[in-house]
Amino acid sequence: MALKVSARGRVPPFIVMDVMKAASELEALGRDVIHLEVGQPSTGLPFKAVEPVKRLIGESALGYTVANGIDELRDRIVGHYRTAQGVQVEPESVFITTGSSAGFQLAFLAAFDAGDRIAVASPGYPAYRHILSSLGLEPVLLQVGPEERFQPTVEILEELDGKIDGIIIASPSNPTGTILPKPEFERVIEYCRSNDIRVISDEIYHGISYGMDVTTVAGVSRPEIVINSFSKYFSMTGWRIGWLVVPPDLRRSIECLAQNHYISPPTISQWAAVYAFDCIDELQANVARYKTNREILLQSLTDIGFGRIAPSDGAFYLYSDISSQTNDSVSYCSELLDQTGVAMTPGVDFDPVNGRRSVRISFAGSTENIEEAARRITQSQQR
Ligand SMILES: Cc1ncc(COP(=O)(O)O)c(C=O)c1O
Repeated sequence: MALKVSARGRVPPFIVMDVMKAASELEALGRDVIHLEVGQPSTGLPFKAVEPVKRLIGESALGYTVANGIDELRDRIVGHYRTAQGVQVEPESVFITTGSSAGFQLAFLAAFDAGDRIAVASPGYPAYRHILSSLGLEPVLLQVGPEERFQPTVEILEELDGKIDGIIIASPSNPTGTILPKPEFERVIEYCRSNDIRVISDEIYHGISYGMDVTTVAGVSRPEIVINSFSKYFSMTGWRIGWLVVPPDLRRSIECLAQNHYISPPTISQWAAVYAFDCIDELQANVARYKTNREILLQSLTDIGFGRIAPSDGAFYLYSDISSQTNDSVSYCSELLDQTGVAMTPGVDFDPVNGRRSVRISFAGSTENIEEAARRITQSQQR
């Protein structure tokens, strides 16, 4: 028998998740592991949202909702754009999704046809490449570095060989945390509009920045697609809930795709997200914790001579060059985990070309854990 197995399903692993699995296996053996590999806040759903969610479980059948999500949540998102960023967004442009991960599928399916070419920065979030190729789309890697703050520029786009149909921009970026300053961001958007390139702006780290402003592409009747999520700023990774802001020409097809692929996003999570909007003080306290953690780690890594670290303007990552220590970030991370119980992610997950010389360290955990991790890393370098 030779049953067919699809080539589309043959995507590389998301290495972060493999490292997390190895770290969890060590934990199961009784080792004390500190998770700096995964971009996940150590906090959960904000406290004030917990009681109303519990009540709802007792009182409501929590059945399906309409495919684009409940009005209450879409209205809160519209209000959030108004108060946090001073931006007007139409309620009918907001689509609630099962995490931003489902948002990518919907956006890519609605905007592109098989064979289309989509530019992504490298280093960049690996799932962009892998979701694109599993859908028959071609990721076009834009090799970016410290000169352009690890972000795409018009100059890089002008040098591309062949036409691209779309581009994913993430500012702040994962893995670097770098932000594209507003004038450069707008130049890229202008260039894409004049060259019929659909922009998908992954704004999942908006709300988490350390002094620099972020730019949203959300607005009335704009051609760009916004991807966002409750996983990071709202500290709700496991609730699997996110949203899109969708331009008019894609709304009906995204609605039909969502109806067929997902029926509706998780109902309980939609309500939890509504209540999370009442907890902005707590969420801001989380951001203050990330800022403290960032300073602690930056100081320790600089003290032990880690190489160039990308300017971590936002998100909760440090992306560091480790070529002074090794040219094999995979072995480096695995040995560090084994020796110290500190898990971090090798750069190859984010950059197949140069990632063997880099690591990504997440500082989304508790300050106590970050201090302990810094102590263990320092000790291991002194051996
Ligand atoms: C840049 C970026 N986009 C999207 C995601 C996916 O997040 P979720 O599906 O939890 O919304 C992540 C997760 O780490 C990310 O870093």
